[in-house]
Amino acid sequence: MGSSPLSARPAIRLTRRMVIAGPLAVAGSALLRPRLAGASSGTAEIVAAPATAALRGADKPSTGVWAYNGTTPGPVIRIRQGEELSARLVNRLAQPTTIHWHGIRIDNRMDGVPHLTQHSVDPDGSFDYRFTPPDAGTFWYHPHERSYEQVARGLFGILVVEEKDPPVVDHDIVLVVNDWRLGSDGSFSEATLGSAHDRAHAGRLGNVLTTNGTTGYTAAFRVNDRLRLRIVNCSSARTLQLALEGASARVIARDGQPLSSPAAFAAPLVLAAGNRADIIVDMPAEPGARVALTDVSGDRRLLASFEPRADASARKTPLDLPVALAQSLVPAPDMRDHLPVDLVMTGGAKGEMDHSPAYASGPVWQLNGVAGMTETPLFSAPRGRTAAVRIVNRTAWAHGMHFHGHHFRVVAREGSPVPVDDTLWDTLLVAPGETVTIAFVADNPGRWMIHCHMLDHQAAGMDTWFEVQS
Ligand code: C2O
Ligand code: CU
Repeated sequence: MGSSPLSARPAIRLTRRMVIAGPLAVAGSALLRPRLAGASSGTAEIVAAPATAALRGADKPSTGVWAYNGTTPGPVIRIRQGEELSARLVNRLAQPTTIHWHGIRIDNRMDGVPHLTQHSVDPDGSFDYRFTPPDAGTFWYHPHERSYEQVARGLFGILVVEEKDPPVVDHDIVLVVNDWRLGSDGSFSEATLGSAHDRAHAGRLGNVLTTNGTTGYTAAFRVNDRLRLRIVNCSSARTLQLALEGASARVIARDGQPLSSPAAFAAPLVLAAGNRADIIVDMPAEPGARVALTDVSGDRRLLASFEPRADASARKTPLDLPVALAQSLVPAPDMRDHLPVDLVMTGGAKGEMDHSPAYASGPVWQLNGVAGMTETPLFSAPRGRTAAVRIVNRTAWAHGMHFHGHHFRVVAREGSPVPVDDTLWDTLLVAPGETVTIAFVADNPGRWMIHCHMLDHQAAGMDTWFEVQS
């Protein structure tokens, strides 16, 4: 691919405002507020096009990427709960694309899945998305066409739906983590896109981790500042294991849904590809103390470093205000009358050492014995019925299973009901050999995908769909 910067055309049109997230200039933090005070019909324009990005810092050669409005991650779109989002996708790529709004309990027609909910947007075409997210929280958006390529090349952005009454913090910061596979010269590794090996193993694992589009993300804060970090894993395959040093923190939300009560941050905090976590961090009181967010999934790698900043206006004592969010609006499943569904995963390589050529082409994963999308849905639920999906992982690999249009709870593991855990998920990591049953009220009519969010797995057969009758 070439890299044609967006210089020739305006990246964002209509109503918008650029704001810097946090107290310092932070890379990749363009912020898009589609509706400004007084504007009655704001529409955000989101242009997908090739661009370049200084992923490894300004002093190293930049990388040819695909980007929304010229940056990867794309703009942070912020709206308030109850507001309508109106966004026009403009496709300046050489291939079709769409936008899927990940984690939103959305109107099905706006879900962005080619062939299931809309026609793909051809090069130079556009599509208007318009919906009102029911839930406040941290969500993201990305293409649903050739995701293993388009997301891997940098097409993703964040959608924040602000609570009506958010907890009081000094800074509300989005941290978008992505795992890139780059050549030694910093170029995007195009030749390995969709490789047979990645498809049959752990997916496209990278070698450069960026936060908000750069390595070495740093921001400075005053002592005792309270931060809300919205951490999003946009990686194509990597499961992050987060650790936090230098401060204690509380988790207040997972996958854009509030926990019923805040939980102490316990390392490692696991974020599969697609998962989010909102955490509250109180900066230390000692001047000079530094806070580090690291990924310990492999060699320990620094994701973000929060440095102290001398400031006479600093807080004398930490904020002593509640951080709990309002309860989730997602209805609880009714297990007395549920629709039981089996989802058995098979296929893939049997282990790291299996390099047999049997999977060199074509699908390598199956759901209930079938690779890829089928004419008929995996199941069809009457609207309002609880669906309980028993996910059986008969492969040697972990999979992050994502359900569209609904959030779900884990109700049983290995066939046994689990202690009540009302954590809500839209993407659940299922370990090799594990059996886990999830349940949700199928209350959102339409056709919804289920797929592995390890995008090479999705491309290689791990996708299916279900229907909620209207
Ligand atoms: Cu985040 Cu079907 O995708
Ligand atoms: Cu998978």
